[in-house]
Amino acid sequence: MTSVGIDAIEIHTGKLKLDLAETFAPEMGDDPEKYTKGLGLHASSFPDAYEDIVTMGANAAHRLLERKGLEPADVGRIDVATESAFDNSKPVSTYIAGCLEQVYDGDFHHANKGERKFACIAGTQSLDDAVNWILAGRNRGRGALVIATDTALYARDSSGEATQGAGAVAMWITEDPDIVELSTEQGYGSADETDFLKPNQQFPSVDGKRSMQVYLARMRESLQDFERATGASHPDDYAFIPFHTPFPGMVRKAAVLGYRHMIRGTDIEEELAADIGRQPRRERFDSDDAFEDAISEYVDGLTDTDAYREWYDAAIQPTLSISSQVGNWYTGSVHLARFSALKHAAENGIDLAGKRLLVASYGSGAQAEIHSETVQDGFTEAVAASTIDEQIEQRYDISFAEYEQVHDRHNHEKSVELEPFTQPDAEFVFDGWGPMNERKYTYVE
Ligand code: CAA
Repeated sequence: MTSVGIDAIEIHTGKLKLDLAETFAPEMGDDPEKYTKGLGLHASSFPDAYEDIVTMGANAAHRLLERKGLEPADVGRIDVATESAFDNSKPVSTYIAGCLEQVYDGDFHHANKGERKFACIAGTQSLDDAVNWILAGRNRGRGALVIATDTALYARDSSGEATQGAGAVAMWITEDPDIVELSTEQGYGSADETDFLKPNQQFPSVDGKRSMQVYLARMRESLQDFERATGASHPDDYAFIPFHTPFPGMVRKAAVLGYRHMIRGTDIEEELAADIGRQPRRERFDSDDAFEDAISEYVDGLTDTDAYREWYDAAIQPTLSISSQVGNWYTGSVHLARFSALKHAAENGIDLAGKRLLVASYGSGAQAEIHSETVQDGFTEAVAASTIDEQIEQRYDISFAEYEQVHDRHNHEKSVELEPFTQPDAEFVFDGWGPMNERKYTYVE
């Protein structure tokens, strides 16, 4: 069977940084540790005045095409995933193609373009569409550009304001990829939920606490469904488990539940039984409540065991490093988590080639999807080419007053003028409005 997956990844972070502990927490009257320890977030990225979902996506895609030495004729699809779109008809992928055509001789007239929407899981769904297109043999030797781009802004003074972020992840999907091959097996957990939604409005209506419960419930369903296709999973099966990461604290909650599920009936449960007992089984309890209480107690104990801590430090913690510095990028978030893990392995000489990742995506509204990926020989080189560390380091650190201006600048109802804090350099910038209220872009040398 043809091997299809991700051949290259490029990341573009919004160029501004809001320090959550130093700048945001004091203004909110919060203890800084709510952010650094509770949520696991140190900073959020924001777009400068000339950045938006199009510029961030186009800049990531441009770097990717340049690095791989690709021309427009090599690209058979451009799929954009976003939940920050500003047009209900014209897709962001056409704007991004228009930007790229400013800097290439050829054009993308024969590339199929689209926009995927299902909250944060749309990035993974676009990846899926691209893989299926190649597996179906419809690509005529060409690859697919998948771009997840978002400005995850929440209304001022809402609880979600703590978990904002902005950036784009561009992925190049081909046969015989350099980074990861995707499994054909997938598991889904999907239900009609109203935990987080944007009914024709820019900023989400969100029930934060409920959204966390829905995330965990759908993840669990999708793992069960995945196991129907693959058989039981064991923690040793996967080198890393990148989760959708709205904030690292959410992943902490999901990881321990996943670990509990995977060790049930295994040698690990057996070894831990002397310390924390066996996992509660439903048939031994008179009521759901009593069973749930026993599970909570078991999970608390499990979290404190050496076996769990060692697994978490090896398989989960490395997936969180970029997120903790940039916040939630919605559709790009799980792809940042995968990249963080690969980067950690490359930097620490961990030989991942041939090893598997279990990738756990989630979108509010709500759906989770789980599949596995096999890491390819070329991953170290592909990851080493990334400039994400420099980009994170070079962000302009905004004050709280500047943050208020930036939020207003990107609020579609206000869209106030704002002098940029940074200088564009060899990149696409937002350049004002056209006669049909379309957004205009230029490449700045
Ligand atoms: N020291 C250490 N920890 C502290 C602390 C301190 N001084 N103060 C608070 N904390 C801990 C809290 O105990 C809590 O941790 P636990 O949940 O483990 O108890 C954590 O820090 C956050 O504190 P709060 O619960 O008080 O924070 P909050 O009420 O401001 O809300 C939130 C947090 C609900 C996540 C909110 O930020 C929100 O609504 N975010 C947007 C929705 C979201 O991201 N949901 C996630 C699932 S949905 C999804 O994944 C899709 C998506 O991308 C949006």
